[in-house]
Amino acid sequence: MIVMNKILSYIGLIVIGGLIISCSAKDDYQGLEYAPNMYHSVPYEPMTQITDKDAGNWVNSDSDIYGEYFNSNPNNPHMMNLRVPPANVVARTKNGYLPYRVPKDSIEYAGKYVKNPLDSTAEVLAQGKALFEIFCISCHGATGQGDGLVGQVMLGVPAYNVGRVKDLPEGWIFHTITWGRGRMYPLGPQIPIEKRWKIVRYVQTLQNQPN
Ligand code: HEC
Repeated sequence: MIVMNKILSYIGLIVIGGLIISCSAKDDYQGLEYAPNMYHSVPYEPMTQITDKDAGNWVNSDSDIYGEYFNSNPNNPHMMNLRVPPANVVARTKNGYLPYRVPKDSIEYAGKYVKNPLDSTAEVLAQGKALFEIFCISCHGATGQGDGLVGQVMLGVPAYNVGRVKDLPEGWIFHTITWGRGRMYPLGPQIPIEKRWKIVRYVQTLQNQPN
């Protein structure tokens, strides 16, 4: 009798253990969910987009197979909850440029990873030069020697084609224009992103001048 009891309790343990293991989540399988609508919101959440082909069946049919993700909206294109913007709305980007979000203290990051979207064409260089003569020439001088009219009084304006400044990468220069550096004030608020990149192309030609 005792032996029989032992055998039964072992079998019981194995069955219960098997049940627990088979519910466990792994990889893409989230495990057996008890009352899934406690995990997945039934009201549509505006910013989620999960594509679940069975979504909506729980409302529209008697089928037992319904999507677990109620947030796939079968009534909208691509099962999105957000609607597609109406025609002719004004995009938040300007000429395709997203806002520059690299913070002021991350100039090393900018120097490494931020790249100029504009090629060095004759047109870009000509516009870059014109912009340089509006925003930078007063301090940096016509050839970037730091000898502009303000630069002569202000002092400490570096020449572009000497020492460390000669090798500054494009992202670094862009970041300097945007946020300023030391006594150079930030020009980001005055100069739109695309124009800043044009100036960078022109500054690079000044960096490459023989000295
Ligand atoms: C008010 C004067 C002034 C104006 C205007 C000015 N700069 Fe500067 N710039 C400086 C000074 C001063 C420094 C040196 C800053 C320091 O290292 O403390 C400097 C440094 C720089 C550097 C070197 C940064 C480094 O890491 O050493 C670059 C590149 C530069 N300026 C580009 C520009 C460009 C491009 C413009 C125009 C869009 C411009 N600056 C406008 C005064 C000016």
